Amino acid sequence: MKRIPVWFDTDLGVDDAVALLTLWRLPELELRGISAVAGNAELCHTFENARNVCHLAGIDVPVYPGAEHPLFVPLRTAPLVHGKNGVGEVELAPSPAPRETKPAWDALYDAAKAAGGELQVIAVGPLTNLATAFGKYPDLKTLIRRILIMGGAAKGGNVTPAAEFNIYGDPHAAQMVFRSGVPVVMCGLDVTMRAYLTPEEVESIGAYGTPVCRFVRDSNQLALAFFERTDGPGLCCHDTCPVMYLAHPELFTGEEAGVYVETRGALTLGKTVTDIWSDKQFPDRHVFVVLDVDRDAFAAKVQELLRTY
Ligand code: RIB
Ligand code: CA
Repeated sequence: MKRIPVWFDTDLGVDDAVALLTLWRLPELELRGISAVAGNAELCHTFENARNVCHLAGIDVPVYPGAEHPLFVPLRTAPLVHGKNGVGEVELAPSPAPRETKPAWDALYDAAKAAGGELQVIAVGPLTNLATAFGKYPDLKTLIRRILIMGGAAKGGNVTPAAEFNIYGDPHAAQMVFRSGVPVVMCGLDVTMRAYLTPEEVESIGAYGTPVCRFVRDSNQLALAFFERTDGPGLCCHDTCPVMYLAHPELFTGEEAGVYVETRGALTLGKTVTDIWSDKQFPDRHVFVVLDVDRDAFAAKVQELLRTY
């Protein structure tokens, strides 16, 4: 099987960790590099979290430090869901791997050149690293085959009624990514709120007993409590959606659309404006907006992959 070369950009929080652990075990994907960005927690946490999850799971891939703050708006973290440290206040053993010092955008560019135009980027945090890379390397857009994000929403929001956390976290960076000309797969809240694990499934993962499975259960307790408090469906595996879509698109449905980001609105800052249900459509429509998932098959696959550690 020809494996898909993948770059993973993350504000490593608790659902990012599930996405990374799933990604590493999908035989269809070949992880070439990881970059950390500030988002769920400050960069000092998300960078170490990515390193330490790799150490816990035996993921032998370099992790590069990226942006400490968004391009133009203040950093907004999410301690209620991810804890102050980004991994649900779980203390992970520190990685002994040397800390990479090359900036994320330089490492991504090098990986894109090495992949000869075949690299696909999965970005599951604010898009500051990707936007910075596009700004520094004008030819990068010819070297990335596709960008798959967790971000946005055709309808609704989880930070404001109009905006989702990753896009709201850096709306200007998101606009640069959507306007880059690189095809985008957008896994927004429309699908990620349907891609959940039940509390019983999370407990069953932990009961499997391996260090990785216990970490997944223990680090997601804050997030589970948050979803229960807010009448959520269960533990939303937001960031695993673009990962699973890349390897198993058959589990998902969606539509081609034009998507622009609101970067100036008072009420709508960070909204991903899509033309899916509009009579008036945008001129360029190169975004595939994922809208639904076979939840049972998704959950079964995630559990199956986590149990291989
Ligand atoms: O809105 C959900 C997104 O925000 C996920 O990527 C989660 O990790 C947080 O970054
Ligand atoms: Ca994330």
